Amino acid sequence: MIKIQRLTVLAIIPFVLSWGCDSQAKKEKLASTDVVVNEVKKIPPKMDWFREAKLGIFIHWGIYAVDGTAESWAFFNNEVPYDEYMSQAKGFTASKYDAEAWAELFKKAGAKYAVLTSKHHDGVALWDTKLSDLNVVDKTPAGRDLLTPYAEALREEGLKVGLYFSHLDWSHPDYASVIQPGMEDNENRNLFAYPAKGKEDPEAWERFLEFHRGQIREIMDLFHPDLYWFDGDWERTDEQWRMKEVREMILSEYPDAILNARMKGHGDYETPEQGVPINPPDGVWELCMTINDSWGFRYSDTNFKSPRQVMQTFAECIGTGGNLLLDIGPREDGTIPLEQVEVLTELGKWIDKHEEAVYPTEKGLPYGHFYGPTTLNKTKDVIYLYILGQPKAYVTLKGVRNNINNIRVVGSNRELDFKRFGGAEWQNIPGILYINVPENVIDKYITVLAVELDGKLDLYHN
Ligand code: GLC
Repeated sequence: MIKIQRLTVLAIIPFVLSWGCDSQAKKEKLASTDVVVNEVKKIPPKMDWFREAKLGIFIHWGIYAVDGTAESWAFFNNEVPYDEYMSQAKGFTASKYDAEAWAELFKKAGAKYAVLTSKHHDGVALWDTKLSDLNVVDKTPAGRDLLTPYAEALREEGLKVGLYFSHLDWSHPDYASVIQPGMEDNENRNLFAYPAKGKEDPEAWERFLEFHRGQIREIMDLFHPDLYWFDGDWERTDEQWRMKEVREMILSEYPDAILNARMKGHGDYETPEQGVPINPPDGVWELCMTINDSWGFRYSDTNFKSPRQVMQTFAECIGTGGNLLLDIGPREDGTIPLEQVEVLTELGKWIDKHEEAVYPTEKGLPYGHFYGPTTLNKTKDVIYLYILGQPKAYVTLKGVRNNINNIRVVGSNRELDFKRFGGAEWQNIPGILYINVPENVIDKYITVLAVELDGKLDLYHN
């Protein structure tokens, strides 16, 4: 009954229609339909740089690049015998490693930070650890610490320094010493992870924890990372790891350091992997994603994503409040394959042109207002619309109550015509905004429009 009455009223009200300016004027607040977007709760100020960074570069570099095997997993999954995997160390030269060139490339790509694997699950450290001889200084022709040049070059370019560190260590003799409860009778238990014949040795585990903390302490003291990117916490419980101790050890000395959450939840932000989250995590997060299908360099993997595919994922991440940590895999000599350089370079050119829509921005509109990712400027009076395809004449924006001052193409400042149809002013329901997008303003990759509002974003949802 109510529905019929409403439709009748709607039918006799003429469309609100105007070109080039917005005539939806009155905005009586209807409390029931007001929504608050982008309310950020209890996020400590130390996270500010990270939330504004948007793009980071992940680097998986290790002895696995020599034969192009899967990083660490190659021996864990019995694709290659352990000794053969480890013999790759003899071919790891870092002979063309140019940390300054890396840092320049990352900066050119638009990244604000990078994360390099200081030690993967295979246990091979990329620095001169004093706690084990399993490191590139003692065991490879590279013969030197590779992390210092990296940290220095990044800082020189104004980028934040992140280091990946694997808690688990499938080479350390004390690691496979205790069993995660529930795994006792699991016949597929891997011997790199758990003790043979199920005999536990809690003392060895304590020694391992000392070694684990000791290596993290070396990293703290030598490189003062801005970001600790931990991995490999899944083979033990938190009672076994006691990760809170690790958090306290780092933060008591470096309170502004950022820790990812792969420490049994004692971290600062979530790290979804390989797939853009459809329901993004609450709070701060970062998607890590490979450019092809592998984290490290592999001769056999030529399945590279195109620059456009990477940009689309990037837009989807920042539009829903996350960062993208885009992974590359340098060769054993330190050079970065051309296909990866090309993606980073194209991404950088595109970000450069669309910079105002990227940083510093906030996550955009909830799903349903626009067919594509969106971001908002800090004062929330400009909406950035990311057009992923080539529209037939126009795109639409729904549920925005504000008057529109102006709509322009980001990067060219060309102004576009728009008009608003329909709406129900007496109920504060905004009409649909049609924005003309002529073919000649379309970007090679993703076109971005800036919709300038008459004030802070006021959304309608119902
Ligand atoms: C997974 C993989 C590991 C990789 C990491 C990156 O944990 O096991 O090899 O380094 O993802 O996020």
